[in-house]
Amino acid sequence: MPFKIDLDSPHTTPAAADTEARMTADARRRWDHNAALYDVFQWPMELMVMGSSRRRLISLVRGPRVLEVGVGTGQNLPLYAPGIQVDGIDLSGRMIARARRRNAAASVTLYEMDAQDMAFPDAIFDTVVSTCVFCSVPDPVRGLREVRRMLRPDGRAVFLEHMRPHGRFLGPLFDRLDPVVSRRGPHINRPTLDNIAAAGLRIEHVEDLTPSFVKIIVARA
Ligand SMILES: C[S@@+](CC[C@H](N)C(=O)[O-])C[C@H]1O[C@@H](n2cnc3c(N)ncnc32)[C@H](O)[C@@H]1O
Repeated sequence: MPFKIDLDSPHTTPAAADTEARMTADARRRWDHNAALYDVFQWPMELMVMGSSRRRLISLVRGPRVLEVGVGTGQNLPLYAPGIQVDGIDLSGRMIARARRRNAAASVTLYEMDAQDMAFPDAIFDTVVSTCVFCSVPDPVRGLREVRRMLRPDGRAVFLEHMRPHGRFLGPLFDRLDPVVSRRGPHINRPTLDNIAAAGLRIEHVEDLTPSFVKIIVARA
């Protein structure tokens, strides 16, 4: 079955809150562990699909205020146009430390913060950006509701995300592989388009990349 949890916010039961706290602590440990070698392992993907897709995604960004969720080691940071003010958050302190080393621009501020519970006031960002993040956030719909809360009424969220493939062969294959892959890295069978809609975001544009389970998505609050 595709992985999907939707714990209502606020949590309906203390047990649900405990489960999410445990999954979030696991995710933090996992990404802290991956931080040192993330850029090395990511390099072939950057050459094949991610490099050009990141540039395309960031070209859709409108400022002046931008939030990047799950900023990781900061691969997108050099791509923002001058004059854009970026707040970047990530659950993993070690990922953030690498992002700080990559980019010391005054227009970028980085925080160790959980996307499921962001410490920003409502409706202050013109664009929210995420690249390959909602495959990893323990409760993706909760995180996506936070993205919606962050957006100004005329703002938009732009996502570059991989998700569960359609198709009779690949979908079930990804379901079978997910428990193994997600022990060390992201989930590979998240229904992220459905999750974005479930969070109350209005999907405006979907672009299939190659492979087609990697997509650029533009959504509004
Ligand atoms: C596959 S990496 C992508 C990093 C970066 N966006 C990129 O494109 O290279 C997933 C990132 O999501 C972060 N992440 C996972 N769960 C998160 C959460 N609840 N809140 C914030 N960041 C989270 C991880 O720490 C990790 O840096």
